[in-house]
Amino acid sequence: MVVKATYAMRNDPLAFLSAELDSLKQQGLYRHLRVLDDEQKPSTTVDHQHVVNLSSNNYLGLTTHPRLRERALEAIERLGVGTGSVRTIAGTMDIHMELERRLAEFKQTEAVVVFQSGFTANAGTVSSILTKDDVVISDELNHASIIDGCRLSRADIKVFPHKDVEAARKILKSLPANQRKLLITDGVFSMDGDLGALPDLCALAEEFGCIMMVDDAHASGVFGRNGRGTIDHFGVHGRVDVQVGTLSKAIGALGGYVAGTRALIEFLHHRARPFLFSTSHPPPVAAACIAAIDVLIEEPALIDRLWENTRFFKAGLNQLGFNTGMSESPITPVIVGDASRAMALSDRLFARGVFAQGIGFPTVARDKARVRTIVTATHTRDELQFALDAFGHAGRELGIIQG
Ligand SMILES: Cc1ncc(COP(=O)(O)O)c(C=O)c1O
Repeated sequence: MVVKATYAMRNDPLAFLSAELDSLKQQGLYRHLRVLDDEQKPSTTVDHQHVVNLSSNNYLGLTTHPRLRERALEAIERLGVGTGSVRTIAGTMDIHMELERRLAEFKQTEAVVVFQSGFTANAGTVSSILTKDDVVISDELNHASIIDGCRLSRADIKVFPHKDVEAARKILKSLPANQRKLLITDGVFSMDGDLGALPDLCALAEEFGCIMMVDDAHASGVFGRNGRGTIDHFGVHGRVDVQVGTLSKAIGALGGYVAGTRALIEFLHHRARPFLFSTSHPPPVAAACIAAIDVLIEEPALIDRLWENTRFFKAGLNQLGFNTGMSESPITPVIVGDASRAMALSDRLFARGVFAQGIGFPTVARDKARVRTIVTATHTRDELQFALDAFGHAGRELGIIQG
């Protein structure tokens, strides 16, 4: 009885969150979570509606690939569904070691450490290798996980305008020669689909003695020989000290990894907080990732198909008159500007049977709201043409394109 009275009188200390949500609604930025009623596939059911799906990072269709399913099921039978521990206590299984060996071989580095996600790989690595006495020089469009890692490290953060190598050089010139510096870029920028200026940034890192780090989350399985990433695409092997990749996008399962020297990897075993303080991958996830490496090596035609579809779809959007920005990858943004218009385009597409998410602030700048599209290797031409027709109709209805 007493407890009830106290509870009834209590003001909700989280009431300010409702005000924040109202403000998002007024700005047209409030989004309901879309729910898949089926598998993650190029045509699927979302919110009970059949749609052509242009919103996933499932570049090669591996989320439902039979070889990955089979290996994951076999791992569940043999090893169970969880590890019950962090890697550094009792959560390292032979299957984790095998995955890391296979990734290191694939990426042509001495060693690899796998994290629970690409996010924790970036944040855990940057925050552990830098201290408050160091400085990080970071592209303004680098992923949130890099930004969070920089903040956690307490290092000084210097941001250069997107891909502006000269601006990065000016920053480096102004810094004391003996200060430890990390130069960091995404390999593929996730919202614009353009590539980091790797060769020029590697040269800069060499000139100024920086640690060079690349987040290749969207390049893994997409760029380079058999999907080895932008380091391979640009031929800068040996010039990037810290390579981050993800197992959550083209690889089709979940996780992130860091590839580099054995010293770097052993250091991360001892200092990277997500590695030390969060439970390791369930065996089926590790098994699916190993199977995905086999697929990358043995079925490179999938990557060819991804690129054929990408060229077809990009050309179609451009012919319709959409602004697709600077994309050089299967990520093709349809830049609209105003957030509520971008969300309206996304909603109209959905009503026409195409799932392409609207993206606004803070994920992109306030005046650069967009609908982001990603085609996959497994889309058929008919599906892509259907999506282009829907873009044409919806774009004309909203006055985004003419004709
Ligand atoms: C550029 C970039 N880096 C890192 C990540 C994080 O990867 P994950 O989804 O595996 O945590 C993402 C995913 O959104 C990304 O786009």
